Amino acid sequence: MAKMWAGRFQKETDAVVNDFNSSVMFDCRMYAEDIRGSLAHAAMLGRQGIIAQEDVQQITDGLNGILADIEAGKIAFSPEKYEDIHMANEQLLTERIGDAGKRLHTARSRNDQVALDMRLYVKKEIGEIRALVLDFMRVLYVKASENLETVMPGYTHLQRAQPITFAHHIMAYANMLKRDVRRLDDCLDGMNECPLGSGALAGTTYPIDREFTAQTLGFDRPTDNSLDGVSDRDYCIELCAALSILMMHLSRLSEEVIAWCSWEFKFIELDDAYSTGSSIMPQKKNPDVCELIRGKTGRVYGALTTLLTFMKAIPLAYNKDMQEDKEATFEAIDTVKNCLRVIAPMFATMTVLPENMKNAAKRGFINATDCADYLTKKGVPFRDAYKATGTLVHYCIEHGKTLDTLSLDEYKAVSEVFEDDVYHAIDLSTCVRERRSIGGPAPEEVARQMVNIRDFLKDRGIEIDEA
Ligand code: ARG
Repeated sequence: MAKMWAGRFQKETDAVVNDFNSSVMFDCRMYAEDIRGSLAHAAMLGRQGIIAQEDVQQITDGLNGILADIEAGKIAFSPEKYEDIHMANEQLLTERIGDAGKRLHTARSRNDQVALDMRLYVKKEIGEIRALVLDFMRVLYVKASENLETVMPGYTHLQRAQPITFAHHIMAYANMLKRDVRRLDDCLDGMNECPLGSGALAGTTYPIDREFTAQTLGFDRPTDNSLDGVSDRDYCIELCAALSILMMHLSRLSEEVIAWCSWEFKFIELDDAYSTGSSIMPQKKNPDVCELIRGKTGRVYGALTTLLTFMKAIPLAYNKDMQEDKEATFEAIDTVKNCLRVIAPMFATMTVLPENMKNAAKRGFINATDCADYLTKKGVPFRDAYKATGTLVHYCIEHGKTLDTLSLDEYKAVSEVFEDDVYHAIDLSTCVRERRSIGGPAPEEVARQMVNIRDFLKDRGIEIDEA
């Protein structure tokens, strides 16, 4: 197949080089963006009198026909035939409409064309990812609203620490995801400039209208420097950084779900539809979905590392290294979408086991801080109260007791300040209810946090019907 750039060459491209160079197998997913960009470019060329209106009409009809044929599965993008999606669309157009097709690439380069296509594609995908994150936040909100009073142990160092509620725990993740949405929004905001018209690197001598194409294609403005316009891939890096942080959050939650559904915890039961079995051990019900999310986090970090590495030290302006942006960015996007699509229903359908959470909370002296606070509120300096409580905990461990099952005499043996009301003070529900400081686990305080999340979702068009 003769190349579009064949004029300067005396020989055919080596087959190995052809395969190595070609990107059509993966950049064909930007077919719609490529056509959209070409439609805007052609319309601009016509408006500016750079090509004739009849040509614009033919190009427009031709491109729309190609779009329809691609969508109907009638076009196969093989690397033998096409180098990349930009060449493919132009070749197809010229095959169909002849000379008018050959005029489309006036005042344009593949360098600004690919820069445009990638931006349009990434913008679209950010919108889709954002919608999936918001939906998962909604799922978390609903689960939290069902578990405002579900007491569980809160952990530090994976050691039982202080009592919290399941709602409190889940809302921590909702807050992480809220920041993820903000990062996606920021990325979108920063990249909303149109590179079309940057040309190969140095703009063009034709009287193009970059404001028009920028506006037509939904960008805030044209990019301000043509060299930067064709060689900026910051937005891919920013997106992959944002997605890496998002995956880090999903991996943390996955890890917790894996622990929670083990027999050691049994805080939750995953729905059968979201678990898998073992080929040899009949009793097994495995959290493979969570493990895969945890594992796939590596792909997204990998994409970020790939982008940062190949962009490092590239001189201005366009270099073919930049073609590597596609697979890395696509891989990150696909992975994140797949993970979000599965984690949301998995979380929505899991069964919470409040009794088991409560029983775990009863062991491990998670009310020890409250016992010390009890003394402190009666005037004992905190450090002394801390020490007295430590002595009590040690005594309990020695005698197989808990703070709740100690007699008042045993309390008084350590400090005379203890009275009958200590049992109320160290009761788990008191411990949770009294933690009313901003951000704490008291049900009314978690409810306040939830209002913030609900408002955040509402501002972004997600309504939650509260039964
Ligand atoms: N397939 C190329 C890419 O993805 C398109 C731009 C090619 N430009 C060039 N001067 N070879 O980067």
